[in-house]
Amino acid sequence: MIEPLTNILQVSLPELLSGEQIINTNRSANILKSNLYVCPICGNIFHSTGPAMISCCGVTLPALEAEQADEEHEIKCEKIEDEFFISIQHPMTKEHYISFVAYCTGERFESVKLYPESSIEVRFFSRGHGTLYWYCNHHGLFKKRI
Ligand SMILES: [Fe+2]
Repeated sequence: MIEPLTNILQVSLPELLSGEQIINTNRSANILKSNLYVCPICGNIFHSTGPAMISCCGVTLPALEAEQADEEHEIKCEKIEDEFFISIQHPMTKEHYISFVAYCTGERFESVKLYPESSIEVRFFSRGHGTLYWYCNHHGLFKKRI
């Protein structure tokens, strides 16, 4: 019987592929350093709280780099009592739409999936300051501190 290389080297497969030794330091547990990944083929959405090797549909996905919104992707965020009311004036066609909106604070990451033909009106219970993320399937990830 052939022994797997990971057994011989005493490392896990992710360590073998990345070339980095993984030591359990809980270094990836900061939700404020969240990474988002979207598969360009099937639209699958992934969230990690630290560096990760994510692949989907046979493609390795880079972490998305969130940008400040341009005019076309401007977000409107109103605080009304205990909630944030989010809206975006953006196309919602099958070809070009906002795929999700997320609200991240120090302890929670909450996302709402949106679909073509729906409106972009999202409500989050306010948990204080945090970061809003929203993703356009054509123009990528945007963020705003609230
Ligand atoms: Fe767009």
